[in-house]
Amino acid sequence: MQQRLKELEMEALQKIEAAENLKQLNEIRVAYLGKKGPITEVLRGMGKLSAEERPKIGALANEVRGVIATKIEETQKKLEEAVVQQKLASEKIDVTLPGRPVEVGNHHPLTRIIEEVEDLFIGMGYEVAEGPEVEKDFYNFEALNFPKGHPARDMQDSFYITEDILLRTHTSPVQARTMEKREGKGPVKIICPGKVYRRDNDDATHSHQFTQIEGLVIDKNIRMSDLKGTFEVFAKKMFGADREIRLRPSFFPFTEPSVEMDISCFMCGGSGCHVCKKTGWIEILGAGMTHPNVLEMAGYDSKKYTGFAFGMGVERIAMLKYGIDDIRHFYTNDVRFLKQFFVHE
Ligand code: DAH
Repeated sequence: MQQRLKELEMEALQKIEAAENLKQLNEIRVAYLGKKGPITEVLRGMGKLSAEERPKIGALANEVRGVIATKIEETQKKLEEAVVQQKLASEKIDVTLPGRPVEVGNHHPLTRIIEEVEDLFIGMGYEVAEGPEVEKDFYNFEALNFPKGHPARDMQDSFYITEDILLRTHTSPVQARTMEKREGKGPVKIICPGKVYRRDNDDATHSHQFTQIEGLVIDKNIRMSDLKGTFEVFAKKMFGADREIRLRPSFFPFTEPSVEMDISCFMCGGSGCHVCKKTGWIEILGAGMTHPNVLEMAGYDSKKYTGFAFGMGVERIAMLKYGIDDIRHFYTNDVRFLKQFFVHE
């Protein structure tokens, strides 16, 4: 029996040593120390032994059990520690790895142009004004000297909401609103960017909604030379220091005389290319000296006050400046298009 117990001890210790994980170790515990295990069996069979042998074998059996239990306990600690170490290793974070870049937004190309133009005019003492996109017929047309029956009032061109209310077809009503607010007194020097709407079929160069920037200067002694000088600064700052400007006669109901302003082509310098359609000049904006009727309707004395106004299409300027060939790109918001204008500020 002694022999059997020693063998059991050896066998158990070997198995414990070889245990690879806690599960195996537990199986060994149950197999050797459990109620149905071989040591319990030995103890049970002690009744058959002589009185001399009984305490010896009993003591030995307890000793073997103790040795095995201790070994199991030690091994369990080791295996548990190994599990913790393994977990730590697998969850290790390398803090020196570079971070994942965060996607950041940026300004839309139209916003970019608007801000550039605003900055330029703010630098010349202008204020930024705003007006409603849902506008009264009065401010959109009447106050701007559009006679009744003028083709621009036609239902074909404007989105009318009621007979008197429409989506503004240009940013010019902000001229009338601003002058009215000043009650015929003092100078006005404003720039007004905003959305405008026209009943157009959308294609590469037309959109039923687009963006304009309006400008208005009213004061005593404002002359056409002020208009021209302002445009020269604008053309050179926006399109390059060696730009020249040219004024051509035109017509708008709210200005007299009216002009259209061209700049010398920034692509070919004036010799003629596809951008300027071989003319050497690119049309940029409409402008003119504020019509006396417009001044009077807003409460200004047209004998004392004169002024000039201008209006430009933001999409057109952006298309020219960035070489964009389809106006729809501005509204479809394809990130691949927009990303080309990302700058890191
Ligand atoms: N409102 C005109 C348009 O939409 C643009 C314009 C022309 C505005 C001449 C002006 C101006 O202020 O003086 O076509």
